[in-house]
Amino acid sequence: DKGLYRHYMLKEIYEQPDVIARVLEGRIHQGHVLEQVFGSGASELFDQVKMVQIVACGTSYNAGVVARYWIEKLVGIPCMVEVASEFRYRKTVCMPGTLFITISQSGETADTLSALREAKEQNYLGFLSICNVAGSSLVRESDLAIMTNAGPEIGVASTKAFTSQLVVLMLTTLVLARRYGFDGEQEIVAQLEQLIDLTEQVLALDPQIQKMAEHFVDKHHALFLGRGTIYPVAVEGALKLKEISYIHAEAYPAGELKHGPLALVDEDMPVVAIAPNNSLLEKLQANLEEVRARGGKLFLFADSKAQVKPGNDLELITLPDVPTVMAPIIYSIPLQLLAYYVACLKGTDVDQPRNLAKSVTVE
Ligand code: F6R
Repeated sequence: DKGLYRHYMLKEIYEQPDVIARVLEGRIHQGHVLEQVFGSGASELFDQVKMVQIVACGTSYNAGVVARYWIEKLVGIPCMVEVASEFRYRKTVCMPGTLFITISQSGETADTLSALREAKEQNYLGFLSICNVAGSSLVRESDLAIMTNAGPEIGVASTKAFTSQLVVLMLTTLVLARRYGFDGEQEIVAQLEQLIDLTEQVLALDPQIQKMAEHFVDKHHALFLGRGTIYPVAVEGALKLKEISYIHAEAYPAGELKHGPLALVDEDMPVVAIAPNNSLLEKLQANLEEVRARGGKLFLFADSKAQVKPGNDLELITLPDVPTVMAPIIYSIPLQLLAYYVACLKGTDVDQPRNLAKSVTVE
């Protein structure tokens, strides 16, 4: 039931504070992540993990890319991420001690399921599934599983499933990181608990985002830029826009601009940039000035510490202060709203975009 919302997608975007609360419920005790929530035998298995291989599709894949940054930074072990349709059909090499993680909202995505079955023929240490549907094929066929508890997602474009996957991936990162001497677990758990409030604050930017959306209605292309953990957030923002508004959107790591995409920048190519406060902020700011110098119009979601010259070529939405590690979760929300409002203004079928199915059970 959509309740008072015009579309399921909007309802699901607005459910995110509750969803995050549900993801954390029963998973945290005295500032620490409980390991039994991953299933029986989880602790023994986690003790042996030396490497991680993540496999997923679409939005779930984008969540996996964020996790790669977190795992390599906080755990300090190698993490690889691949789309399932590639992984399943190529010869892959499994290093001893590798944990195989699948991420899926539905748990029925054909490519992800086949990738898991392929991987089971190799000597992976174990198989963990991060999934929103208990009892799905993916969960049944994995050794360990942790539910994202997002509740049913009806809109074809994934929103709350993505943020809930990110929260679960952070829990997963923390249980691995404690085995490698990471001492910041309590601090990050406290930040996870603050997410609920921050999510509410970001949703309150809705009217500003709705206004920003007007600039995209007559556009045919858009470029999304981010760096570090925010690069996959840019990819996810571009995916949302193309899925529901049918505007061609591409994401680039901002540092790659000079290596090609800068050639596309002109007044007809809106550039969406995501600039939380992190060690790459200054570098990103420099990339943004390159865009402006080419006549590009900038749509910026930024921390209050970002320094950008005001101008007619800039639409800025300032986000509340967010702990750096949590930025991918928080900054994905305004991008969901942007895609949503652009699609509404264009009059496309938001919940049921053409040519797409909610659960891709065939390859
Ligand atoms: C995008 C979207 C798809 C799914 C993909 C994987 O909004 O919904 O890209 O993320 O089909 O689906 P699951 O997560 O069910 O495996």
